[in-house]
Parts: sequence; C-alpha cells; structure tokens
Amino acid sequence: MSNVSAIIMAAGAGTRMKSAYSKVVHKVCGTPLVQWVYDAGEEAGVSKTVVVVGHKSEQVKECLGENKLYVLQEKQLGTGHAVMCAMPELDDGGCVLVLSGDVPLITSETLKNAIEYHSENRLAATIISAKIDNPFGYGRIIRSETGDVKAIVEEKDATGAQKLITEINSGLYCFDTGLLRAALSELNTNNAQGEYYLTDTIGILLKNGYSVGAYQMTDNKEIMGINDRMQLAQAESVMRKRIAEKHMKNGVTIIDPESTYIGPKVTIERDCVILPGTMLEGNTVIGEECEIGPSSRITDSEIGCGTTVENSVIKESTVGSNVKIGPFAYIRPNCKVADNVKVGDFVELKNSNIESGTKISHLTYVGDSDVGKNVNFGCGTVTVNYDSKKKHRTTIGDNAFIGCNTNLVAPVEVGRGAYTAAGSTITENVPEDALGIARNRQVNKENWVKNKKF
Ligand code: UD1
Ligand code: CA
Repeated sequence: MSNVSAIIMAAGAGTRMKSAYSKVVHKVCGTPLVQWVYDAGEEAGVSKTVVVVGHKSEQVKECLGENKLYVLQEKQLGTGHAVMCAMPELDDGGCVLVLSGDVPLITSETLKNAIEYHSENRLAATIISAKIDNPFGYGRIIRSETGDVKAIVEEKDATGAQKLITEINSGLYCFDTGLLRAALSELNTNNAQGEYYLTDTIGILLKNGYSVGAYQMTDNKEIMGINDRMQLAQAESVMRKRIAEKHMKNGVTIIDPESTYIGPKVTIERDCVILPGTMLEGNTVIGEECEIGPSSRITDSEIGCGTTVENSVIKESTVGSNVKIGPFAYIRPNCKVADNVKVGDFVELKNSNIESGTKISHLTYVGDSDVGKNVNFGCGTVTVNYDSKKKHRTTIGDNAFIGCNTNLVAPVEVGRGAYTAAGSTITENVPEDALGIARNRQVNKENWVKNKKF
C-alpha cells in the first residue's frame, strides 16, 4: 500500500519507571525504546512519521535527533488527544499506523502484515490484537457473536464479564487517515479516566457504518509495553535473544546467547565464535572466523578476519586480520592495528597506528604513536606522550627493536632497524640501524657483601 504514515505517541510520563528520564529514552540492547519503534515504522515503509512529545520532550528529541517531525502535546489528555495533536501534519487519502513509543519489540514484518490486512479487507481501522493469559490493565477487544469487532473497552471501564476477555488491544493500529480524523472529532471524555480515548474511535467508526477489524498476533512478545524496570529487563532479554538468533542463522557460533550482548547494528561474518560475557556494540563489524571473548567489549570498531580478542576492550578503532589481542588488552579510540599484529596482556594502545607484523606482547603503553612493520616491543615499554600540557607523537620505523623497560619521551623517533637498550629513557632520536642506549653503566663492587658491617 502506498501513502502510509505513522504517529508515535511518546508524550506520557511513565511514572512507574521512577526515573528522571522520559520512559521512551530508556534503552533496550543499547537503543532507546522510541528509536526501536521509529525504525520498525521506517522499515515497514512509512513515508512520514510524526512523534508526539510532551513529558520531558527535550530528552525525546535529543535521543531521536532534531531532524525528525515532532508535535507537542502540552497536556496529556489521553491517547485520542495525542493523535489529534499529530493529525494536522498528515494528509488524507492513505493510512496511518498509530504506534506507542513504549512498545519496542514490535517488528516491521508485523506492521507490514497489519497494513496488508488493513488494505485487503478494506477496513477503516485495524487493531493489532493478541490473546494473552493475563489481560489485566489492557483494553479488551469486544466481539459480536459472529466474531466481528464491536469496540475496545478499557480495564477501568470494563464490566466483570468484559474483564474475562483475553483478547487485548496492543495499542498499535492502522487507520484510514481521513476517517480517523473524522472519528477523532466525535471523541469525548465521558469515561472512568476523564481522557480522550483513542480506542473509542473504533466504536465511532462502526456507528458511522465503517468496518473495523483486528489483526491478531501470534508472537505476543512483540506487543509487550514497557512500564517499569522489570519489563525493561524482560524486553532486553527478548531482544538480545532475537539478535543472537539472527547471527546464528547467518553462521555465527554463540556459545551462550544468554550472556552475550550484541547491539542491533553489529555485523558479524560467518564462522566467528563469540564466547560468553562478550558485548559487541554500536557500528561494530567483525570479519570471518574471528574468536571474540570470553569477556570482551568491542564498541564502534572494525575487526578483520581470523582475529582473536580475549578478555579485552576495543573502542572506535580498526583492527586487521589474524591479529591476536589480549588477554587483558585495552585499545582506546582512534587506533589502526594492521594484519598479523600481536597486542598482548596488559597492553594499552591509544590514538596510534601499528603496522603489520609488529609485536607488543606485554605490559606496554603505546599512545599517540606511529609504529612501522615488524617492530618488537620489549616488556614494559612506555611512550611518554604527555608533558602536562600537550600530547606528542612517537615514531618507530620498520623492524626496530625496543628493549624492555624503554621510556620513549615524545616527540621522538626511532629509525628503521634501530635498537634501544633495555632500561633506556630515550629523549633523542635514534638513527636508522643504531643502538640507542641511555642508562648508567653498571659498577660491580667486588666483595661488597663480605666487607659490609651489618
Ligand atoms: C492503551 C490503550 C489500551 C491498550 C494499551 C496497550 C487507550 C485509551 N488505551 O492504554 O486499550 O491495551 O494502551 O498498551 O488508548 N500517551 C500520550 N499522550 C497521552 C496519553 C498517552 O502520548 O495523553 C502515550 C503514552 O506515552 C504511551 C501511549 O500513549 O506511549 C499509551 O498510553 P498509556 O497511558 O500507556 O495507555 P494505556 O493506559 O496503557
Ligand atoms: Ca501503556
């Protein structure tokens, strides 16, 4: 169907979250609730999305971005009123998805199916409904003896018999835009909560001779609304499982999906093995046949093929193929680590380029440095990059050999093939193929121990 728009209701207070933040900016798998809903709508093919904001509106705008279309609902007078606020932004002649900002598990497939159901059955309104074991709190779908939808009745307005109905309103709908506009003008607040109920438009449309229907979900998890932190954690676990299954279907082994946290935008190529306790976040890309984890965290980084990352943290960096990282390495932002490099235990890299074949095996800090190919770092090397005011760069040529416990006081350059002697504090450039030695000569005092008077 063409000309489908969307309204996302996100003006409510969400008091049960007990939070200083708007409910819809809380995150599931690293992405705000309202962003999940927005993206599901976009993927379902909507051409325009209007976000209704009110309570803590600045937070919602900041999280979705200023380039979206917002309308302000100053007073939260109910879901019907929220939709009324958005209607001036929409044209008649198509249909509109009405979505809630706190239903993050809804998929674009379900929205597409609902739109299809709506247009095939030529309906004025389609409610996305579900049968659930515990319907308490939800609006109930009232059907006639022949199974036609007659109305939605809210929990607080329901009779004892109506409360026994287990088919509930998910709070997500598809409406004919023009007919919704007309029905909204007939809404009133004669109900238990004194609000404009969007759900009353169903009865109004029927009264005016239009047909409405319900698209009943098979997977109830999708329509779960988040009202408190327990539901937030439940949604997190459902979403985490969903993401992990997508990667497993694509040929990735995840040893324990329960303890693996993968963000929605992460790409993992086939035959990777993800070990427990691993978090892959942001726009991270992992090439084929990598082994990541256990207990590693990679954020906004690109990793080549066949690389292993063990108990390590990598942020905003690029790592090549067949690299060995960890255990216990920390690669801070803006590093480029080329192929076949080793970054071993207790090594920290920051804002540095490391060319291929270089080995930084243990207990070393490399910051603000450009390191050539096949360089060997002895244990305990430190680039002294900060003079308390400015950062300075260290440059190390191909095939250089940095002795154990070398301090490289930047700005400084070690030429190609040069060596530094163990324990040196290098403050001047070391020319190509030279040995830089900067330490006191050893003096042995013969028989010193015997002669000492203790
Ligand atoms: C609503 C439905 C109910 C359904 C349930 C599903 C109505 C009257 N009832 O009830 O049938 O089973 O959702 O979760 O619609 N909002 C605004 N402005 C307002 C009021 C609400 O933007 O003035 C937003 C809220 O932020 C939320 C959404 O609309 O995102 C739903 O509002 P909420 O108050 O949670 O509705 P429910 O009582 O849960
Ligand atoms: Ca709700």
